[in-house]
Amino acid sequence: MSKIENLELIKGMKDIYSEELCEYNTLEAMARNLFSRYGYGEIKTPLVERESLFARSIGEVSDILQKQMYKLEARDEDDKKNPLVLRPEGTAPVVRAYLQSGLANQDNLCKFFYTGAMFRGEKPQAGRSRQFHQIGIEVIGTDSKYADIEVINLLWNLALSLGLTNCFVKINNIGCKNDRLKIEEFIKEKASVFASGLCQDCQRRLKTSPLRVLDCKNENCISIIKQKIGQKIPELLCDECSQRFKEIKGNLEVLGVNYKEDNLLVRGLDYYTHTIFELVHTGLGSQNAIAAGGRYDELVEKFGGHHKGCCGFALGVERTLLALEKENKKLTAVDFKKKEVFVLASASVFYDKAFNIAMNLRKNEINAQIILDEKKSLKAQMRQADKKKAAFVVILGEEESKNEEVLLKDMASGKEQRVAYNAITKELKKLIKE
Ligand code: HAM
Repeated sequence: MSKIENLELIKGMKDIYSEELCEYNTLEAMARNLFSRYGYGEIKTPLVERESLFARSIGEVSDILQKQMYKLEARDEDDKKNPLVLRPEGTAPVVRAYLQSGLANQDNLCKFFYTGAMFRGEKPQAGRSRQFHQIGIEVIGTDSKYADIEVINLLWNLALSLGLTNCFVKINNIGCKNDRLKIEEFIKEKASVFASGLCQDCQRRLKTSPLRVLDCKNENCISIIKQKIGQKIPELLCDECSQRFKEIKGNLEVLGVNYKEDNLLVRGLDYYTHTIFELVHTGLGSQNAIAAGGRYDELVEKFGGHHKGCCGFALGVERTLLALEKENKKLTAVDFKKKEVFVLASASVFYDKAFNIAMNLRKNEINAQIILDEKKSLKAQMRQADKKKAAFVVILGEEESKNEEVLLKDMASGKEQRVAYNAITKELKKLIKE
């Protein structure tokens, strides 16, 4: 890698080139395909939102708000009062859009999907970057357990359609608002006995957001919390919430979703209620959640609307591709990576003609490349075509030019044939199809 002083790529971000982008696009196309089968419509929200949107949804004391927000310079008085940030996630913006557009005033169920970049100033490590991409869905306007079931089933089917095998859905129930208050009180009371044995972060969490103690990755905290607190939590849930969760699990079983219940699962974002889940990949180490989501029934009210039950998930594109790599799988969509033709000229005098041939192939929907340097030798052009894995090369030399022909070479078989100018498109179309 070369160094370019003061102009380098920002830590935790990356440039993505065509081969990898092809995988991103394929993943997105497969997800879109599935989403439309389930009746989800696309929404695009801006990359920039007000910080208060996330403070009120994710939570003031969440790690994201406290440590990871990318703040932007104020452009006017409004921005000074209410700072702008790069979005760290997609749920709050979708709910904002839903309320602002007036959709919330209609009695409709809304089903959205979105794709795009998110920004969190985290410490970069494998599976954790500062700019990453999510593909997500949000169902807004229903309390029905069938929404939870549909959302989890859709995520599971997406994983299956991508060819992932070493994964499962980790699932938990954090109950209704009253249950959550009960759980938090319970954690505070029980954990205070062991507080001195807990890590500094957990001691702070006990005061600000006790549920997060369950999410601590410190081995010592896990052992204390698992034994003394975690196992008791299901007993604190009200009958209605317990029954609801039981029915959801029953349906997931019938649908063949590979799920595992985990009483210690909590999420780093404050807006969740009832069902929460993660799609976990067993080959990914500590950052093993490819996707995550759950129900968030209080968010619309927190933003000033009437009660609307909501549920959704977001899948991390980079982590999903990493998981596929761990399984030695690559997303190669034939639709995206079409066979490519390289047009070469043996000398600069033939370049005009070669250029026109390439242009004509493109006009006829054939992926054609021509090296934009008429001084390059034929050998160098051929090397480039080889490196780029061209399926065919079309060579224009002196003799071919005299006869108004080209030499067409199939790079896989090595077979060569002379083809008249006016038959190149037809012949290539035939070969590409084979
Ligand atoms: P989240 O768990 O913060 O949830 O993120 C969802 C997924 O985004 C993660 O499982 C992971 O794959 C990916 N992800 C998160 N942070 C990073 C990072 N720093 N680098 C790479 N990938 C990352 C949400 O964002 C919620 N909005 C999900 C949701 C939708 N809940 C309801 N609806």
